Amino acid sequence: MKPNNFILLFISLLLLTAFKVSNGKDHGDKGGNHDHNNNGQKHGNGHKDGKINSCPQLETISRDITWRRVAANPALPAKLLRMHFHDCFVRGCDASILLDSTGGTEAEKEAVPNRSLAGFDVIDEIKAKSEEECPGLVSCADILALAARDAVAFQFPRPLWPVSFGRKDGRVSLASEANASLPSPAANFATLRQQFQSHGLDVVDLVALSGAHTIGLGHCTAFSDRLFNFTGKGDTDPSLDPDYANFLKQKCSNPPSPTTTVEMDPGSSLSFDSHYFEVLFQNKGLFQSDAALLTDPEAARLSRTFQNPGAFFARFAQSMVKMGSIGVLKGEQGEIRKNCHVVN
Ligand code: HEM
Repeated sequence: MKPNNFILLFISLLLLTAFKVSNGKDHGDKGGNHDHNNNGQKHGNGHKDGKINSCPQLETISRDITWRRVAANPALPAKLLRMHFHDCFVRGCDASILLDSTGGTEAEKEAVPNRSLAGFDVIDEIKAKSEEECPGLVSCADILALAARDAVAFQFPRPLWPVSFGRKDGRVSLASEANASLPSPAANFATLRQQFQSHGLDVVDLVALSGAHTIGLGHCTAFSDRLFNFTGKGDTDPSLDPDYANFLKQKCSNPPSPTTTVEMDPGSSLSFDSHYFEVLFQNKGLFQSDAALLTDPEAARLSRTFQNPGAFFARFAQSMVKMGSIGVLKGEQGEIRKNCHVVN
C-alpha cells in the first residue's frame, strides 16, 4: 500500500472509532445526561424509521405530568414500569394493555396478572395534554413507554434510558393472550429464558430486567405456595431463607388474603437501586422466578455483577430499550388512538 493510502486508511479508522464511541455513550451509560427537550433523534435504538418525535413538546409534557403524579404517589413508578412490560410482552409495545373490554371480549387489563396494575389515569392525562398540543400525532404506546421511563427517572432526577418514538397503537386486546404470555411468578429458569427469548431478549436482559423488582409490591397470593404448600405436603420452599419465610408466613395468612402485599425488595421497595441483587443472594427473592436466577450459572454470575449499581443501571437501560422495541407496529400496521381506552 502506498504511504498516502495508508495515511488515509488510518485517518478513516480513527474517525470510525470516534464515531462509534460517541454513539455508544448515548445508550449504555449509567443513565447518561439525556436532554429532556431533545426530539428523540439522538436516541436511535431499533425503530429504524421511527426515531423522530413528531411532537417536540411530548417529552416535557410526559415528564411534568409523571413527576407531579409520582411526587404525590411514590408507588407509581413500579405500576407504570410493570404496565409497560406487560404491554410489550403481549402483541408487542402497542398499548393493547390500555384498551377496555368491549362486548363479550375481555381485554388484557382483565387478565389475572394485570388486575393489580394501576396508573392508567396518568397515561390518560398525558394523552389529553398531547392531543391539545399535537392532535393525532402521539400514540398511546409511545406515551406508556415514556411515562414508565419518566416515573423511574423522578428519583434521580434524570432519565435512565432513552425512549424512541413511532410506535403505533394496536387494535386487539385479549385477556386470554395476556394470561398465556405473561411470565408466572412460579416459573423456573428454563421457562423464563424461553419466554424472554421468544421476544428477542437474552439471559442478560432477563436478569437485568428482573432487577425491576427492586421497586414495588407483591401480593401474597403470588408466592404463598412457596410458604404453605410447596410440594403439596404443607411444606416451605427450601430455597427461601427460613427467617424470611417465617416473616412472610406471618404477613400472609393461610389461605392468603387477596389484598395483602409485601415489598419485593425488603426495606428499599421505593428506591430504584441494585439492592434486589443483594436480596437474591440472601435467598430472599420473593417469587420462584426471582430465586430461579440463582439456579443457572450464567444468570447467577450476572446477578452478582449487577450488585454493582453502575453495572446494573447501564445494562437495565440497554434492556429497557430492547424491551421497548418488541413487536412495534409501524405505519399502516396500527393507528394513533384518539382515546387510549378504545380503538378509533
Ligand atoms: C421475569 C419474569 C417476571 C415475573 C414472573 C414477574 C412477576 C411479577 C409478579 C407476580 C408481581 C407481583 C404483582 C402483584 O402481586 O401485584 C410483579 C411485580 C412487579 N414487576 Fe414483575 N415479573 C417479571 C418481570 C418483570 C419485568 C421484566 C419488569 C419490568 C421491566 C417487572 C416489573 C415489576 C414491577 C415494577 C412490579 C411491582 C408492581 C407494583 O408494585 O404494583 N417485572 N412481577
